[in-house]
Amino acid sequence: MGNKTIDKAKKYIMSTYASFPLVFDRGEGCYLYDDGGKKYLDFVSGIAVNALGYGHQRLIEAISDQTKKLTHVSNLYYNEPAVELAEKLSKHSGLDKVFFCNSGAEAVEAALKLSRVYCKKNKSKDAYKIISMKNSFHGRTFGAISATGQLKYQKDLDPMMPQVDFAEFNDLEDLKSKITPETAAIIVEPIQGEGGINTADIKYLKDVRALCDENKIVLIFDEVQSGIGRTGKFFAYQQYGVVPDIVTCAKGLGGGIPMGAIIAKDQIADAFTPGSHASTFGGNALSASAALVVVDELMEKGLIDNVVEQGNYLKEKLEEVKNKYPEIEEVKGTGLMMGVSLKGVTPIDVVKKAMEKGLLLVGAGSDVIRFVPPLIVGKEEIDEFIEIFISALEDLR
Ligand SMILES: Cc1ncc(COP(=O)(O)O)c(C=O)c1O
Repeated sequence: MGNKTIDKAKKYIMSTYASFPLVFDRGEGCYLYDDGGKKYLDFVSGIAVNALGYGHQRLIEAISDQTKKLTHVSNLYYNEPAVELAEKLSKHSGLDKVFFCNSGAEAVEAALKLSRVYCKKNKSKDAYKIISMKNSFHGRTFGAISATGQLKYQKDLDPMMPQVDFAEFNDLEDLKSKITPETAAIIVEPIQGEGGINTADIKYLKDVRALCDENKIVLIFDEVQSGIGRTGKFFAYQQYGVVPDIVTCAKGLGGGIPMGAIIAKDQIADAFTPGSHASTFGGNALSASAALVVVDELMEKGLIDNVVEQGNYLKEKLEEVKNKYPEIEEVKGTGLMMGVSLKGVTPIDVVKKAMEKGLLLVGAGSDVIRFVPPLIVGKEEIDEFIEIFISALEDLR
């Protein structure tokens, strides 16, 4: 069965992914089933996307009800789910106004564009430079990839968008040395996801905020991966008590339906005027209706507390594994955005071995395995994950 689909995919889909030979057919809770009926515990969640897992009843109902009423109208008009969602995102972020798009890279583009537009109008017409972090990841569009601090993603694409500089993550002096009067924005992931679950120090982020204030620089937090409850707060920056000028989000926001957004302070957001930026599908009623369920489950129905509880449990269990297995060097991350750095064994070997045993995992950086299960995960599933993970490590000895 799977082979036919895979052969067809190879013929008709460009091979930008080194996909595993697995065809998924359906999901339920934290589990996926392939087309042969084999069950997999999913600690990937579509790479930090399926916040409510699979087959979530409220999500299904909201999407089906909305589909019957209206899926899309142009942003030349208003639709209620998008407006309701914007209000909730504003409330839960502590920021003011939203621009909707469809993906993480698009959110990053919007943030970069907004900060340039704002600075041209309010700082100087020469304030157009962006400072990003080494080892960061911001997406695959030209602007976002130009602001991504990992050369491997830029291979064969040169020249990149000019005027982007890169500073060492968590190194304030290096960042200071890169700031010039032309600097418009600094973009940082509070927790680098693709780069290997690297967490920013609290003092560093506070100092970055102060540097931005002193130098009239727009501070962008890219929370495409760490946002929407993933770390146990609506946004990871709320763990730090540092508020950005613009935050990007996507991934978990639509619970599996494409949806991205930036949220900005009024003063910055108001630099965008009709015609400054646009997205045909951004904030369409279908995606917004899905996101409303995700946000409501997290912030009103207590799912965020589950992330904290299960995140602590997961960390405790991983520390136990680390104490017994020298293959684990360090336990990294917060909430349900966790990972371990490995030694003597490669992430891809662990991913493959775990997959054989019915557990889906994904690597990050060069030596990290990432654990980003659906936010509805429970203790039983974490115990099952630990059991399979250990058995994969043992098999690889
Ligand atoms: C921090 C961050 N920003 C941006 C992106 C790009 O998101 P998308 O793949 O939805 O364009 C990602 C994706 O992994 C991400 O982790």
